[in-house]
Amino acid sequence: MYDVGMTTGDRVLVVATQLTTRDPSRTPHQRAARSTVARKVLMSISGLIIVLFLMMHLFGNAKLLIPNVGFEEFDEYSHSLRTFLYPILPEKFFLTLFRLFMLAAAFIHIEAAIKLTFRNKGSGVSGARYLKQRYLAGSFAARTMIWSGIIIVFGVIAHLLQFTCEIIRVSYPEGVTTVAPHERVVLAFQTPVVVAAYAVWMLAVCIHVYHGFYSALCTIGARTGAYSEKLIKVCSVIVAFLVFFGFMAAPLSIAIGLVTL
Ligand code: HEM
Repeated sequence: MYDVGMTTGDRVLVVATQLTTRDPSRTPHQRAARSTVARKVLMSISGLIIVLFLMMHLFGNAKLLIPNVGFEEFDEYSHSLRTFLYPILPEKFFLTLFRLFMLAAAFIHIEAAIKLTFRNKGSGVSGARYLKQRYLAGSFAARTMIWSGIIIVFGVIAHLLQFTCEIIRVSYPEGVTTVAPHERVVLAFQTPVVVAAYAVWMLAVCIHVYHGFYSALCTIGARTGAYSEKLIKVCSVIVAFLVFFGFMAAPLSIAIGLVTL
C-alpha cells in the first residue's frame, strides 16, 4: 500500500456506509481523509525539523569527547548559540528566534499527534459507524508512538530544568547555583541513576525517531516503490542508532571515568 499518508503502523478504519453528508460532492470520510493527510504532512515536516535539531545537538555534544580541547569547544558551542550574529543582532536574538521556531515545531507536532490519535479512535468522523478496526502489520515502534512521545515530553521538561535552567542540580558543590555547560554534564553523569534515566529517555527517542522518520518520509512522498521503501527503512535505522548511541556516548564515557573534570 503506497498511498500518501498511510504507513504500516496506522490504524485502518473500515467505515460503515451511512455517513452524514455536509458537502454533497464529498462524503465525510473523504473530508476526514483530506484533513488527516494535511495533519500528517504537518506532523512529518515538524518531526523532520526536530530530527535536524537533534543531529545538530548530537554533534555539539560529541565535542565533549574530544581529548584536551573538548570542554572548551563544548562551552564555546553553547556560548555561540547565545551570541550568533551578535553584534549585528542583539545578543540572544537568534537564540530566542531559534527557540520560538523549535517550540512552534514541537507544538504543531504534538497537536497533530493528539488530533490524529483521537481521530483514529473514531471520534473525528461524525456519524460514522465502524464495522472493524485493525492494525496493518504495525511494528512495536509504530504502535507505541504515543507512549514514546509522552516519555520524550517529560524527558525534555526534566532536561531543560536540569541543563538549561539549572533548577535540577546534580552533584553541584554546596551553595553553587550555576556552573559551565560542560560541568553540568560531567557532574550529572557521574551519578549512575542519571545515566540510567537518560538511557530510558534515549531509548524512547530512538524508538520514536525510528518509526517517525520512516513515516514522515513516506508521508511527504519519498516512498515511490520497493527500492525507495528499503532505502527509507535503512536510513530510519541509521538515524535511530545514531540518536541512541550518539547521545549516550558522552553519559557512558563519563560514567566509566573516560571523561572527567
Ligand atoms: C545525553 C544526551 C544529552 C546531553 C548531554 C544534552 C546536553 C544539553 C546541554 C548541556 C544543554 C544546555 C546548553 C546550554 O544551555 O548552553 C542542552 C540543551 C537542550 N537540549 Fe540537550 N542534551 C542531550 C539530549 C537531548 C535530547 C535527546 C533532546 C531532545 C529530545 C535535547 C533537547 C535539548 C533542548 C531543547 C535544549 C535547549 C536548547 C536551548 O538552549 O534553547 N537534548 N542539552
